[in-house]
Amino acid sequence: LEKKVAELKSKIKSYPNFPKEGIMFWDIFSALSDGSSCKLLQSLLVKFIKAKLPDVEAVVGLESRGFLFCFSVATELGIGCLPVRKKGKLPGEVISYEYTLEYGTDIVEIQKNSIRPGIKCVIMDDLIATGGSISAATKLLQKCGANVIGCLVIMELKSLNGRKNFPNDIPLHSLIKYD
Ligand code: PRP
Ligand code: MG
Repeated sequence: LEKKVAELKSKIKSYPNFPKEGIMFWDIFSALSDGSSCKLLQSLLVKFIKAKLPDVEAVVGLESRGFLFCFSVATELGIGCLPVRKKGKLPGEVISYEYTLEYGTDIVEIQKNSIRPGIKCVIMDDLIATGGSISAATKLLQKCGANVIGCLVIMELKSLNGRKNFPNDIPLHSLIKYD
């Protein structure tokens, strides 16, 4: 597994000063540009979940880059995938969670009828930076009565210490770490 993770890491390109001065952008799409790369990432994610979070009953993907992986992983595991989106994008009855950003607040939502109480969920995204997105999604799912058994991201920016905002009773896994 470690060798495969290293291979994946070598495919991910970084772009300094994007989208803003001083920010390093790690572009997951650069690791999806050919068939063998897609297969590599997919098999790593599926293997990881089977090994560490085998009881999963639904995969939750965070808009928008998280959608890429939650659908393909869910399909291979034979379970459903559920979207968490920014406010106002999902039809029907939704449950919302408001959280604080550096400047102001944001709201994430999920469709109420997609969550059965106690359902064992794994939340997926491409990246954890400040941890704001994944923490908000976790709190949203918990507010809905779901059982968040873990989170899985492909990349973790360790210097931003996103884990400090994350509930420490839930395993948060990342495949690749950047200092
Ligand atoms: C990026 C990334 C994560 C989030 C991580 O998404 O895809 O979802 O930021 O940052 P955080 O840990 O500080 O919350 P972005 O909001 O740029 O939107 P996108 O996925 O639609 O590109
Ligand atoms: Mg995102």
